[in-house]
Amino acid sequence: MLFHQVPQFTLRSHSGEEAQSARFAGKYLVLYFYPKANTPGCTREAQDFTALLTEFRKLDAEIVGVSPDKPEAQDRFVRAKSLTVTMLSDPDKTLASEFGALKENGGILRSTFLIDRAGIVRAQWKKVKVAGHAQAVLETLKALYESDRRISPLIAARRARRALSDDPVTKDEIETLIEAAHLAPSCFNNQPWRFIVVDNPDALASLKGTMPKGNYWTEPAPVIIAAYSEPDLDCRLSDNRDYFLFDSGLAVSNMMLQATQMGLIAHPIAGYKPMKVKEVLGIPAEYVLITLIVLGRPGNPADLSEEHREEELGARRRKALVEVLSWNQFKL
Ligand SMILES: Cc1cc2nc3c(=O)[nH]c(=O)nc-3n(C[C@H](O)[C@H](O)[C@H](O)COP(=O)(O)O)c2cc1C
Repeated sequence: MLFHQVPQFTLRSHSGEEAQSARFAGKYLVLYFYPKANTPGCTREAQDFTALLTEFRKLDAEIVGVSPDKPEAQDRFVRAKSLTVTMLSDPDKTLASEFGALKENGGILRSTFLIDRAGIVRAQWKKVKVAGHAQAVLETLKALYESDRRISPLIAARRARRALSDDPVTKDEIETLIEAAHLAPSCFNNQPWRFIVVDNPDALASLKGTMPKGNYWTEPAPVIIAAYSEPDLDCRLSDNRDYFLFDSGLAVSNMMLQATQMGLIAHPIAGYKPMKVKEVLGIPAEYVLITLIVLGRPGNPADLSEEHREEELGARRRKALVEVLSWNQFKL
């Protein structure tokens, strides 16, 4: 699977009007590139997609064919073959090139991209053989449609795991985690989060030396990231709405999900002595040391206390939804 954001585009449709990619936002989009209107393979492919269009639409998908033909040629094609899929004209092959749907000789490489509701390419077919292709795309869409309606796999998979190995984490990986954190939203885009990456063995040992007993499991961690901020770095609004902690939390949440995707563990803790850690790291008193994020690769649960091992291997524990949710009115 590929996960990259699709470029925005504006092309002329077979009916001559401008079609912008934003028109498909919130829907699935099957974008297929074909070489030339009214030729046998392209006709069969367009007819196969047309025959299944109702099925695709039931799954909230639109089908768009793109070729270098002029809109008038595409319009003749649509009429002659009774096609109901939308055709877009890409005369200078800009979009085809952006999607890597060009052969070395500059011709169109018959290709199909399945783009999700968020504009991310989730499946692609290159050098398409027309027979059975539309049906194969439909089957892939069906599976995506179903899984996208469930809780996001990364949210489901993220756990505050404690079994860590002492294998190193690379600088590249750490920078990707920080970048992910830094892409979080924040009030007025203030970006109040600040991070200190601690990977130097002496500094790490000093930090671990301040850990309370309950956080014994942090010992093997090759990296600890301190997240700190202070109220004036973010919005301070009426009714105690100081947003620096909230926004820093969003950033750490991004970091945890990114770590999960990368097979890493990023576990935020509150169990440390803030004054001591601030002293070790030289963080001035006016800053709040919000959390230490214990970073590493998965280790052996056998190294954990019995209680932690049970939590590590057991199912997630959560309050019932009714305890945290009410509709339309406050409820205790
Ligand atoms: C702000 C914060 C502080 C935490 N502090 C600790 C800690 O000091 N030690 C620890 O073992 N786990 C700590 N945790 C982990 C939580 O116990 C854990 O997230 C919770 O039990 C839910 O489990 P889950 O994250 O696997 O869904 C902390 C989590 C958060 C978000």
